Amino acid sequence: MKKPVAILISGNGSNMECLIKSMDETHPGYPFLVISNNKDAPGLEKAKKLNVPVKYIPNKDFEAKCIDHFRKNKPAVICLAGFMKVLSSEFIKNFDGKIINIHPSLLPKYPGLKTHERVISAKEKLSGCTVHIVNEKIDQGPILGQKKVKVELSDTVKSLQKKILSQEHRLYPEVLKSFLSTKNQFTDV
Ligand code: GRF
Repeated sequence: MKKPVAILISGNGSNMECLIKSMDETHPGYPFLVISNNKDAPGLEKAKKLNVPVKYIPNKDFEAKCIDHFRKNKPAVICLAGFMKVLSSEFIKNFDGKIINIHPSLLPKYPGLKTHERVISAKEKLSGCTVHIVNEKIDQGPILGQKKVKVELSDTVKSLQKKILSQEHRLYPEVLKSFLSTKNQFTDV
């Protein structure tokens, strides 16, 4: 039986799009719902075009309404893909080990916002992206996978962001597939 995958977004949804497209007939999961806390998120239209049900839930009551939507169809995993709201520890505990996030740095380095700016000012030679389990500490949960990119002296925030985003698009689908395929403590669903 295929496992339901929920995806939470706030913006463009390019990672969401890659995740949805990766879930073909042979994939262990299927995208059952995309939820955005931003009604103007371009990702909502992208998901609709890919025939995935979408919901907009405003920040007020976001978590309670989200849980309502998950009552019938319990997600095996909740993928945060450019989701810009900090989730409460109660919500995280409710789905313990089943919420995963993508972050545009080589965690544990550069958690939080403005990662590319900080990487460039620190003259790092390497950066990249990380998919990790979400726990109560922002961007500090167990790491599931990473991809590295070289930071060139000529890189700007924009060029670095572009290089890393294209690696995110490869990493997130790979990690989702193995997360759903591997029977480990996190995928006991
Ligand atoms: C990505 O860089 C992701 O790592 C970060 O926000 C960005 C979202 O991009 N959390 P998109 O909405 O998937 O295009």
